[in-house]
Amino acid sequence: MLFLLAGRRTAGLAAALTEVTASDHVVDIGCGPGNGARIAAQRGARVTGVDPSRSMLRVARAVTRGRPAITWAEGTAEALPVPDASATVVWALATVHHWRDVGAGLSEIHRVLVPGGRLLAVERQVAPDATGFASHGWTGQQAETFAALCVTAGLADAKVNADRAGRREVWTVHAVRP
Ligand SMILES: C[S@@+](CC[C@H](N)C(=O)[O-])C[C@H]1O[C@@H](n2cnc3c(N)ncnc32)[C@H](O)[C@@H]1O
Repeated sequence: MLFLLAGRRTAGLAAALTEVTASDHVVDIGCGPGNGARIAAQRGARVTGVDPSRSMLRVARAVTRGRPAITWAEGTAEALPVPDASATVVWALATVHHWRDVGAGLSEIHRVLVPGGRLLAVERQVAPDATGFASHGWTGQQAETFAALCVTAGLADAKVNADRAGRREVWTVHAVRP
């Protein structure tokens, strides 16, 4: 339950920061139970929710019944089941810390974004010495490293910010496809 609530708050922050509108196609990588996709669809956007977990996608489908603007696709950040230059917005909310190959994921994000398309990644702030679940997120250094990898992948204007999703302190990284 806490997981769903935290996801809704992060999704609300993402929608506000990327100013999603009805003219957007949002690709929500690691969409989990579909909080981000639901909020983007409420703003009128077309949404593709991607996740490697069939059980997460089953929950996402169940809670978004009747929302034709959302397509669910099984896949990973490293091999996005999304056509080239088709997304105006990519979200990676509380998922990058799971990716096996962040460079490959960013290269896929560069491929699927239209020129001018924007990436937003959000991760919980964690302490450098955290272990177990408490380490699921980013230290400030990891957020900076992700921003640098965005530039290596060909994205521009990569910026790290500290923000809040409800009571949770998070790092956000924005970047744009030139
Ligand atoms: C903590 S959940 C976050 C879910 C959702 N974004 C939210 O904020 O509520 C992390 C999600 O990342 C997914 N995931 C794990 N490895 C992944 C990968 N390589 N590419 C994309 N998603 C992945 C998991 O299946 C899980 O649904």
